[in-house]
Amino acid sequence: MTKETGLGKGLTSYGDAGFSLFLRKAFIKGAGYTDAALDRPVIGIANTGSAYNPCHGNAPQLIEAVKRGVMLAGGLPMDFPTISIHESFARPTSMYLRNLMSMDTEEMIRAQPMDAVVLIGGCDKTVPAQLMGAASAGLPAIQLITGSMLTGSHRGERVGACTDCRRYWGKFRAGEIDEQETADVNNQLVASVGTCSVMGTASTMACIAEALGMTVPGGASPPAVTADRIRIAEDTGARAVQMARDGLTIDKILTPAAFENAMRVLLAIGGSTNGIVHLAAIAGRVGLEIDLQALDRMGRETPVLLDLKPSGQHYMEDFHHAGGVATLLRQLKPLLRLEALTVTGRTLGEELELAGPGFAQDVVRSLDRPIYPQGGIAVLRGNLAPGCAIIKQSAADLNLMEHEGRAVVFENAQDLANRIDSDDLDVTAQDVLVLKNIGPKGAPGMPEAGYIPIPLKLARAGVKDMVRISDGRMSGTAFGTIVLHVTPEAAVGGPLAYVRNGDKIRLSVANREIALLVPDQELARRALENPVVEPTAERGYLKLFLQSVTQADKGVDFDFLRAPGVASSGNSTSVIE
Ligand code: FES
Repeated sequence: MTKETGLGKGLTSYGDAGFSLFLRKAFIKGAGYTDAALDRPVIGIANTGSAYNPCHGNAPQLIEAVKRGVMLAGGLPMDFPTISIHESFARPTSMYLRNLMSMDTEEMIRAQPMDAVVLIGGCDKTVPAQLMGAASAGLPAIQLITGSMLTGSHRGERVGACTDCRRYWGKFRAGEIDEQETADVNNQLVASVGTCSVMGTASTMACIAEALGMTVPGGASPPAVTADRIRIAEDTGARAVQMARDGLTIDKILTPAAFENAMRVLLAIGGSTNGIVHLAAIAGRVGLEIDLQALDRMGRETPVLLDLKPSGQHYMEDFHHAGGVATLLRQLKPLLRLEALTVTGRTLGEELELAGPGFAQDVVRSLDRPIYPQGGIAVLRGNLAPGCAIIKQSAADLNLMEHEGRAVVFENAQDLANRIDSDDLDVTAQDVLVLKNIGPKGAPGMPEAGYIPIPLKLARAGVKDMVRISDGRMSGTAFGTIVLHVTPEAAVGGPLAYVRNGDKIRLSVANREIALLVPDQELARRALENPVVEPTAERGYLKLFLQSVTQADKGVDFDFLRAPGVASSGNSTSVIE
């Protein structure tokens, strides 16, 4: 009576496999299923709908369409809940919960009988968590993006979350707009359900998922509330059934070539810096490592082509109208690994051929007319960040990219909150703001607090940008000359822990350098004088987190979740499986 597919997979351990299936079928028939339905390939659908997650507010419609696609293709759809994480509703920070969601996703895929899984995700951490979990589970898996929100209109100006959220809050802090206007714009910034409408982390991960070959073609760009998005959902369901029949498991798609394509796309879209951390984590699940130096080399030859906020002008819905990721890939074609397999069973190159020649549009530029001549992200090294740091150069101020200044140090996020707006703060626009202890272990969860606000007295004087450095992350919707992901972080005794007020710091994006101009002996003396005590916890998830979380270059994944024997990935020659 047992079988290793469909409902017969992964039987509960009662010591009698026949009885286990008999019992399982008896229970599911309680929901009204027939034997004919239960004999079909089972397609799991990871349902991340939640009242706390408006970025997934269209989950019910998507699930309905996925189910239609599954049934049209002869499968049996079974949706199941997993953790859902929204950026604004996760304390202390969504990143703290990403690995938990990945474990939930992995274990639910493993535990429940399914031949393939559709992953419905959209908000920043959900897509990476799902890809991480599915990569570890190893089944055929396909990503369905929830899609971006629509843009709104405030007093004649088009607005969208969340670059404009930050811009208007900056205006409020600087006294340029009053409380009434702040309340008015608050109604317009998120004009519908769906993910942030700029090239923030959610849009970045959507594009990365498509570049990895993990969505159906065109799966990244349709806004959440469009018919195109629903059609993508139906198509995704049908595709999942075919993947189950073909045994197209996720390891055949998440190859070194796929990660190289994803890195190219990340650079060319001026994508969120968080994309690197998530890519490193996903790669780690299939035994690969993102080589940051290779990413930097690729960045020097991969210009930013996508004219989307925060690096450019447009919004995600404009990108969709311009043809979406296919339009971008067409321009990037000479730089891509076209042999990479996708969820369709065809290669990226074959899909590009099928997508046709494209049309005139003004959102994606050509290689010879880029938005920014290099990739959006540069990788920095130096004695302040021996394990690398990064800067989103496409969102930075050109005048600050070669800069030397005096450090103004904040020991942690609370210290920053207490003093940043004080009139007594000894700070000038030429100084370098340094924030410690917001790394993976420090905060914990590496919050998006790296977007250190301009001190109030300087903001009021019209200062818009300063060099800012931390071991934390930054929202993909933010902009400024901001050095992030300093590794190792302060909380584990990285050199950042020993920076003091008045130290000189040099940033040279041209030389890819971030240097603390303090002699090594002095740093060693400070370390001896004030040794770092790593944070610990008594119980619960926090204990697991602090014991197991890796640094930014390893994706902030838990060490025990990474595949054994992780090798190197990046440029063609450094790819080792
Ligand atoms: Fe969900 Fe921005 S808060 S995508």
